Amino acid sequence: MSNGTTDTSSGTMIAGRLNVETGTFAMKEVPIPEPGPGFVRVRVGAAGVCLSDVHLIQGLLRPQFLKGSEVTLGHEVAGTVDLPGAGVTSVAPGDRVVVQAGYEHNGVTLTMGVDYDGGWAEYLVVPAGVLVPLGEDIPFDQASIIPDAVSTPWGAIASTADVRAGEAVGVWGIGGLGAHGVQLLRLIGAAPIIAVDPIPEARERALEFGADIALDPMAEDFSAAMKAATGGRGLDVALDFAGVDAVRSQAINCLGLRGRLVLVGLSGKPMTINDSTGFSYARKQIRGHYGSEAHHVPQLVSLTRLGRLDFAKSVSARIPLADAEAAVKALDAKEGNPIRLVLIP
Ligand SMILES: NC(=O)c1ccc[n+]([C@@H]2O[C@H](COP(=O)([O-])OP(=O)(O)OC[C@H]3O[C@@H](n4cnc5c(N)ncnc54)[C@H](O)[C@@H]3O)[C@@H](O)[C@H]2O)c1
Ligand SMILES: [Zn+2]
Repeated sequence: MSNGTTDTSSGTMIAGRLNVETGTFAMKEVPIPEPGPGFVRVRVGAAGVCLSDVHLIQGLLRPQFLKGSEVTLGHEVAGTVDLPGAGVTSVAPGDRVVVQAGYEHNGVTLTMGVDYDGGWAEYLVVPAGVLVPLGEDIPFDQASIIPDAVSTPWGAIASTADVRAGEAVGVWGIGGLGAHGVQLLRLIGAAPIIAVDPIPEARERALEFGADIALDPMAEDFSAAMKAATGGRGLDVALDFAGVDAVRSQAINCLGLRGRLVLVGLSGKPMTINDSTGFSYARKQIRGHYGSEAHHVPQLVSLTRLGRLDFAKSVSARIPLADAEAAVKALDAKEGNPIRLVLIP
């Protein structure tokens, strides 16, 4: 393993590689990548594990723009600039950075750790434009989850759903994305914030993070409780942070007049609107959401440095990179009800 000062040009590193043809995930020894012009090599400080990684390994999600059949997973990364490629002047070796999870290229969105090699590795190479300066005060494990576990709900709330202060918002799924969604809704003044999750510990943490009420989606009195919580009006916004089919029909039913459902969870399955006439009468909307816009991660880094956000409780465990497979299994099985598990090279 390199400490960043040794010669890495001829070295190798370990990386968590998924073969998308066979569905096999394994730690492999691979060459340390070289940055071409305009690209930067980053030494990974920490990398988060997302349910999308589980979906990718299970074959529920498939890369659309991957060249070849193997990719290093990991789209939540913070670390240190190791080697800027030719022409890069925006960062210098030693700079602490977070890495945006993707970028637009030739009219399509490429996602790191999906369409090109990501951060479940000791090093990764990315375009200079995706690096966001971190400063000295946010530790790498907390910073790594900002792109995605925090920025995706922030993009969904602030842009796609366009949530306004005072609006009633339901949040389905209080895992990595949803636990941050609740904090961000609190920040921008949504009220009431109604958290929905079948796991009691997830409901408890929702209340701790600022939800007004937390409901069990399986409870018999769920609809009545939701109605009561919104004074009979229904939700202005429903956010799907679960990626579970049942959430969508339940959430559509909870929407009030002009209510909008934002699909963040990725299930890969078709969805049906049962009461399509009621959907039209109430002028409901369903909006798709993916990732975040370029300004969202810098905004969140700034909000964190100003003390408006704190991710000290978000990192449920720091797991050695070599044990990535165990981390994936733990997230899938909800062992210890993690918010985010973070891999440390
Ligand atoms: N659109 C995007 O840009 C984007 C980005 C990241 C993740 N995702 C997707 O978002 C989803 C959530 O990811 P995560 O990493 O936060 O997952 P997670 O596993 O950390 O959390 C999911 C939560 O959903 C809860 N849940 C399960 N069934 C439920 C139900 N019926 N009602 C309410 N809650 C239920 C689980 O108990 C868990 O707490 C996944 O589908 C993931 O692929 C989408
Ligand atoms: Zn993700």
